[in-house]
Amino acid sequence: MLDTQQQEISNLELAEQHASALLAAARRAQTFAYAPYSNFTVGAAVLLSDGTIYPGCNVENASFGMTVCAERVAVFSAISAGHLDIAAVAVVTNAPTLCKPCGACRQVIAEFSKADNPIIILCACAGDDTSTEPITTLLPDNFLLL
Ligand code: THU
Repeated sequence: MLDTQQQEISNLELAEQHASALLAAARRAQTFAYAPYSNFTVGAAVLLSDGTIYPGCNVENASFGMTVCAERVAVFSAISAGHLDIAAVAVVTNAPTLCKPCGACRQVIAEFSKADNPIIILCACAGDDTSTEPITTLLPDNFLLL
């Protein structure tokens, strides 16, 4: 149950309202992907609860382990601009079928998700498939430091 004093619209409703702009922002970010080693370009876009969008793309490195996924670039960009109120994250690739966020990105997104109104993940690919699901479906039982 959402606290209506704090938030009148759920992250799912927000994600559905802004889906087309969010996916477009992720597609634009994908064009900036730096992926000369894998040639697998990924675009992401974070939607804040006020409707603001922060984009990100994957950034690879000759030292492969230094590579950062598009989702984390977008999330860290929003966080480093002072925004913790993430409603949704879109992820797009050119793969023929849907690619869901990697485990590391799921854990990073879960850090900012609330149990009563989880962050929504939108995925799109080169084909017609899309998905819309809460981070809790992609990463149930995320790690918590107790
Ligand atoms: N990648 C992402 O950007 N997001 C993911 O969730 C998984 C993988 C990137 C990392 C690397 O640049 C390329 O895709 C191939 O793994």
